[in-house]
Amino acid sequence: MKKVLFVCLGNICRSPLAEGLFNHQVQEMGLQDKFIADSCGTAAYHIGEQPDGRSVANAKDNGLIYSHAARQVQDEDFNEFDIIIPMDASNMSTLKKIDTGGSAKLQLMRDYDSGFEGVDVPDPYFGGEQGIQEVYDILNRSTKALLEDLLEE
Ligand code: 4NP
Repeated sequence: MKKVLFVCLGNICRSPLAEGLFNHQVQEMGLQDKFIADSCGTAAYHIGEQPDGRSVANAKDNGLIYSHAARQVQDEDFNEFDIIIPMDASNMSTLKKIDTGGSAKLQLMRDYDSGFEGVDVPDPYFGGEQGIQEVYDILNRSTKALLEDLLEE
């Protein structure tokens, strides 16, 4: 079983959506016994909260229903997961600071978005509706490419 952890700041917009998309793709391909995803935030602001209502409504319009209770990253995550995927350079920097030498590989989400390697997944929290669909499209592409990449390993 390969375990994937998606990470953003608040764990209510980007990373729970990435988790929902990845787990949905895994189910569609019948790979539930091979891959599982979770998500968390580097910050504690929204612990226990469900994903942002605008992201949930937009995902539903795109055919995805998902839920997640927000949690903050913890020390065990760096050994519990095989790969940890931050949404942006700021999240990556925070993770590198708190990683005390766990076995998990760290890789930016958009390193799996062909042509946009090294680029941040924009934070939609303070943006408008259009930003939310853009984030959905980015994460849909990137999580599919991640799954294909993991299948080749
Ligand atoms: P996320 O978005 O990191 O994609 O979940 C945010 C959610 C909340 C905040 C910032 C970003 N906040 O400042 O509360």
